[in-house]
Amino acid sequence: MSRDLVEAARAARLKAHAPYSKFLVGAAMRDEKGRIFGGCNIENASYPQGWCAEPSAISALIMGGGTKVTEVAVIGAGEGLVTPCGGCRQKIREFAAPDVKIHICGEDGTIRRTFTLEELLPVSFGPDHLK
Ligand code: THU
Repeated sequence: MSRDLVEAARAARLKAHAPYSKFLVGAAMRDEKGRIFGGCNIENASYPQGWCAEPSAISALIMGGGTKVTEVAVIGAGEGLVTPCGGCRQKIREFAAPDVKIHICGEDGTIRRTFTLEELLPVSFGPDHLK
């Protein structure tokens, strides 16, 4: 069931623009209608101005008319778990419920671990605090 999402993340990763870190990352997010949107990290010569794969996928989802993130896959290379960075966790949190699954995948598309958003960003600050 998550295979289509993982494949989208894998395809997105191959589009990454990461000539400085050479660390390619792909993300894919499913919206409330089941549609899948991919994104990659995009670096630039002014290093701190680059951005991660996750906000690229969120941008695609929002521009595609989605309003909620219902499942996430992230793919990066290497032995370690390429989990979303702190800033990305907060960006996902804006659109995702605490029980949304975040699949962390190896370069070949195998799911290594699945976390919930709540596990990655416990006791989080969110839109409800501003009501
Ligand atoms: N990166 C992501 O795309 N997502 C993450 O959650 C972790 C880090 C990217 C940012 C940068 O282009 C490269 O990985 C190395 O940090």
